[in-house]
Amino acid sequence: MKVYADYAATTPVKPIVTEKITEILSEHYGNPSSIHSIGRDGRKYLDQSRREIATLLGANPNEVIFTSGATESNNTAIKGIARKRKHLGKHIITSRIEHHSVLHVFEELEREGFEVSYINVNDEGLVDLDELKQAINPETTLVSIMLVNNEVGTVQPLYEIAEILEEQNIAFHVDAVQAIGHMPIEFDEMPIDLLSMTAHKFGGPKGIGALLVKKGIQLDTFIQGGEQELKRRAGTENVPYICGMASALAVANEHMDENNVHLMNLKEKLIVGLQQHAIPFELNGSMVDTTGHITNLYFPFIEVETMLTLLDMANIYVSSGSACTAGSTLPSHVLEAMYGEHERVKQSVRFSFSDLTTEEEINYIVDAIMKIYNQFKEEENE
Ligand SMILES: Cc1ncc(COP(=O)(O)O)c(C=O)c1O
Repeated sequence: MKVYADYAATTPVKPIVTEKITEILSEHYGNPSSIHSIGRDGRKYLDQSRREIATLLGANPNEVIFTSGATESNNTAIKGIARKRKHLGKHIITSRIEHHSVLHVFEELEREGFEVSYINVNDEGLVDLDELKQAINPETTLVSIMLVNNEVGTVQPLYEIAEILEEQNIAFHVDAVQAIGHMPIEFDEMPIDLLSMTAHKFGGPKGIGALLVKKGIQLDTFIQGGEQELKRRAGTENVPYICGMASALAVANEHMDENNVHLMNLKEKLIVGLQQHAIPFELNGSMVDTTGHITNLYFPFIEVETMLTLLDMANIYVSSGSACTAGSTLPSHVLEAMYGEHERVKQSVRFSFSDLTTEEEINYIVDAIMKIYNQFKEEENE
């Protein structure tokens, strides 16, 4: 048996999505900015997908900017707001547990002369709302806080954060990458200004995403060129992948409720399975403010690198945290923010599941971990 349990890193493209992409690639290849009929045909598919995506996310089609993925969406939102509002103030806020496509942008802006407040989190990974309140000053122009953390699955109290920011003319950007397909998104109803997403986390292809921007919010743009995306993002639109993203999103939304029940069952099954075999472990994150698809566990008997290698040998593919840093030996900045310099930062594994994950796969994972633990105990007794 082979078990892929790293769906928070990326998901396989759904067959219906591949079909859609192939159709557009070969039959509707026109450049949507060309004015002849082949171009207009491409434009038709682009416009249709924009409307579909907007409807599925409760947004207006004009609020959707297509990008190459969430890294670009996060860069566009954060640099775009901070630089556009520089004359109003040079203080911006984020949390310590953001994805590197947010944190590294804030660090870059710090080098440009912005002052950044990095808000701490508690041991469940929830941002400290009092600290956020204290951090705001008349110079603050932007707050960027993610909706669902990609390493531990914690869901941030978006509405409470928005309440703190209310009537202060502070733009609120949300990296919602890990929330799409797991939580209903009604962009126009939500008290936020910008939202980042990417298709490859919900059955779409890599290299395509979107930034939703509320009407009236102005951004400084840094990709110069043509006038695509209402002059907000230059470059010929990737129509086949945009259409693929629309169909992936439709499928993800349609099955969201049943998937969430399935994912919560899997999470519980993994935890109960480990408990029944008396394997020592602790949950990193929250059991309440969480999505079902991510479970991060601390195994106090083994270093994460060894655990990942042994699991890989058992054909179980998981990770220690964000895929973008998985190749590095640096400890997870998310777990460090939650637990400080504790050994659990180096002894934790992220399991992430999808609608494709089965109960048999969870049993297989539990069995494999049990064998690893028994081996560890034997070695300890030798
Ligand atoms: C929370 C979060 N933000 C941003 C990204 C970056 O997305 P992309 O791979 O589309 O650049 C990821 C994915 O790795 C993520 O999990």
